[in-house]
Amino acid sequence: MKEADRKSVRLEILRAADAESEQWLQHIDYPVSDDGENVASALKRINSGCFTDTDGRSVEPVGFECSCLQKKCGACAMVINGTPRLACDARLSEFVKSGTVRIEPLKKFPLVRDLIVDRGAVFERLSELRIWLEGQGRADSRIKDDVYDASRCLQCGCCLEVCPNFSTAVSFGGMSTAMAMSRIIPMVSGEQRKELYSTYRKAVFEGCGKSLACRSICPAGIDIERQLVRSNAAAVWKRRLRPAKKK
Ligand code: SF4
Ligand code: SF4
Ligand code: FES
Repeated sequence: MKEADRKSVRLEILRAADAESEQWLQHIDYPVSDDGENVASALKRINSGCFTDTDGRSVEPVGFECSCLQKKCGACAMVINGTPRLACDARLSEFVKSGTVRIEPLKKFPLVRDLIVDRGAVFERLSELRIWLEGQGRADSRIKDDVYDASRCLQCGCCLEVCPNFSTAVSFGGMSTAMAMSRIIPMVSGEQRKELYSTYRKAVFEGCGKSLACRSICPAGIDIERQLVRSNAAAVWKRRLRPAKKK
């Protein structure tokens, strides 16, 4: 790449040494190495290189989580220019025009440090609510596409970040709980079905304001509205939705 073609963005990273420390913004003028580079790979590069910030301080390693770098694990969820999304899915080329990339931790969860938050409450909720199959599941082939869609939930928390009704202090589990339930509701029967329907009503239906603020945020591309309608129909109205039409 010729020097004249080199692009750069200013990264504004919200940092904190630990949960008790005050958060502060660190500004880094970052040269974008290629069009495929994303926020996660930029943070990795910063942590392995010798970067200085705009005040001339050397940049200490930024705390953040990532694993697959392929939009498969959900670990790298953070708030990027005000929108919760996966850092490995946020290409820096998107931001070259505006020139600034503000990177913040998710705010609905307790801060650990820098961009790391404790999302343990999401997984504890699934365990408390016993959202798993007991015995053999009865798979209905007519709705396998819907079940598969729900199973793609990464438990990343992006939908919880935009949800006005979710916090770790309330019993409402938000869409991450709803997706786990949507996946197994069609497969259970008998007593477990009754229990699961009742749990769904309390942990999802009664707390959800149906605002659908979460509708378009899912980085896995799950059709959240359809899943919500489908599970409400089964668990609340005791009706079964028709299979989704093939696109
Ligand atoms: S529909 Fe509204 S209240 Fe319900 S989970 Fe989505 S954002 Fe939250
Ligand atoms: S529904 Fe989508 S946004 Fe919400 S936790 Fe699952 S993958 Fe993340
Ligand atoms: S690192 Fe796994 S989803 Fe981004």
